[in-house]
Amino acid sequence: MTAAALTGSPASFDVDAFLARERDRVNAALDTLAPAVAQGASHTLREAMLYALATPGKRLRPALCAAAYGVLRPGPVPDAVYRLACAVEIVHTYSLVHDDLPCMDDDDLRRGRPTVHVVYGCGTALLAGAALIPAAVRVLDGAARELGLDAPARGRLVAELCGAGGALGMVGGQWLDLRAEQPDARVDAEGLERIHRLKTGALLAASLRIGARAAGADEARLEALTAYGRELGLAFQIVDDVLDVTRTADELGKTAGKDVDAGKATYPSLFGLQRAREMAVERMGRAVDALRAAGIHSAELEALAAYVLERGR
Ligand code: IPE
Ligand code: IPE
Ligand code: MG
Ligand code: MG
Ligand code: MG
Repeated sequence: MTAAALTGSPASFDVDAFLARERDRVNAALDTLAPAVAQGASHTLREAMLYALATPGKRLRPALCAAAYGVLRPGPVPDAVYRLACAVEIVHTYSLVHDDLPCMDDDDLRRGRPTVHVVYGCGTALLAGAALIPAAVRVLDGAARELGLDAPARGRLVAELCGAGGALGMVGGQWLDLRAEQPDARVDAEGLERIHRLKTGALLAASLRIGARAAGADEARLEALTAYGRELGLAFQIVDDVLDVTRTADELGKTAGKDVDAGKATYPSLFGLQRAREMAVERMGRAVDALRAAGIHSAELEALAAYVLERGR
């Protein structure tokens, strides 16, 4: 399946307008939430938290969350769903602040701007990132209340976010990623897939599960959206690896060529560029198939899948 063939969207569906609209809605929700997220934090800690949140990301995870909600509740998606979705973006943002630290990937450019530790120092960046974790849970719970979810349902959402963000998800994958940089490490195809599924796929799948659960998804559609999210997550990180070797820092808004310098295990390093690209397309084909097999025909989710493959940053 080619990237173009993924979008079975009607001709009237304007993908670029959809993506821009989603980004605007997420940014508006983040702007609304940011003062409360940083409330009470002392001067530079507060500034660092706000700086991290305001950097211009693609906002893919919240867009997935809102689209999953929309699959189950057709019609306009309420603003509170975007606030709910921002909880995932806040966890993602903290993961980037920590990913860029000198003790991890040691990057000085993120989303076209100096990284948080470059501006505020390592200690403040570490703590600003850490402060975003409980803040995200509060945002999630607050938005879930706004949507009228009862305590058990809210608890399930918190479990989704914390499960995907923790040692069994993103943090676990980040640790495996670091370990794989050691000179004596041997990473085979299976090991690399595991790293990518954990460090990136888990939070992407959780974005969809949170949106779907908030909309009261039945088990079959929850599973289909999860399968889509897992494959999309793997494809997303394969594309990230490919972009690292094919794009410039200006294009990416982050340092290019970093993975080779760090001796990272990546899809291009293990399989070559051409095969890595093919594997991303294959995974995305499986992602969209999982939706269609469950009778989910979502122009939004298919457009997001095509975007993940075709993006330039
Ligand atoms: C970057 O994620 C980290 C990875 C999982 C590869 P994104 O590419 O979604 O970063 P932003 O949020 O758009 O900056
Ligand atoms: C990071 O993967 C994934 C995270 C969980 C943050 P990368 O280290 O490849 O992400 P970039 O390339 O720095 O955005
Ligand atoms: Mg990393
Ligand atoms: Mg990195
Ligand atoms: Mg990368």
